Amino acid sequence: SYVKQFQQSLLNWYSENKRTLPWRLNQDPYRVWVSEIMLQQTRVDTVIPYFERFTTLFPTLQDLADADEEQVLKAWEGLGYYSRVRNLQTAVKEVCAAYGGKVPKDPREISSLKGVGPYTAGAVLSIAYGIPEPAVDGNVMRVLSRILLIEEDISKPKTRLVFESAVRELISHEDPSSFNQGLMELGALICTPKSPACLLCPMRELCKGFEAGKQNELPVKLGK
Ligand code: ADE
Repeated sequence: SYVKQFQQSLLNWYSENKRTLPWRLNQDPYRVWVSEIMLQQTRVDTVIPYFERFTTLFPTLQDLADADEEQVLKAWEGLGYYSRVRNLQTAVKEVCAAYGGKVPKDPREISSLKGVGPYTAGAVLSIAYGIPEPAVDGNVMRVLSRILLIEEDISKPKTRLVFESAVRELISHEDPSSFNQGLMELGALICTPKSPACLLCPMRELCKGFEAGKQNELPVKLGK
């Protein structure tokens, strides 16, 4: 079936081509969470040394909860968007106070934490806990707009829901982590914003955008 072919092609490609990244060395939900917050407005190459330093200074969720805000801001200095790390520290304190120091596995509970939107919730649940939740950011919308030939305007906030529904129909329940990270990795390495490498793409046979010759016209972004 299309869904099984999609999963098999993506998971096989990801297993052979995934980059070794410091947040992929284990499935600690705290480390996954820190990485996803850092990666929100910052490129992978920039994030790597910050992630190493931050998790050395604050190795566990409890260490970050107990740290002085000033030390935490200093460790983030240079990454910008400082509300990200202020919200992160607020949220880890809440995890300690309300959830016994364990990042909640319930989508509604994790989404109630400060700074944890639908993308971050889905990324942490799928990558750290293997829970089949979508993790849809701009990169995943680009990739799926091409493969599935979705021509909705990705600058509209409610369009994300269309892509989340698509992921719910496609996601591997055997390996949700690799499925979501495979979509991210495909967006970083093959299905790039400009001149996607379709001739190297593991999804080419399944790609409705390529079939229609529209890969360079997608995603549709009309602007707010
Ligand atoms: N961008 C956002 N999340 C990522 C992840 N887990 N790995 C690589 N790039 C990402």
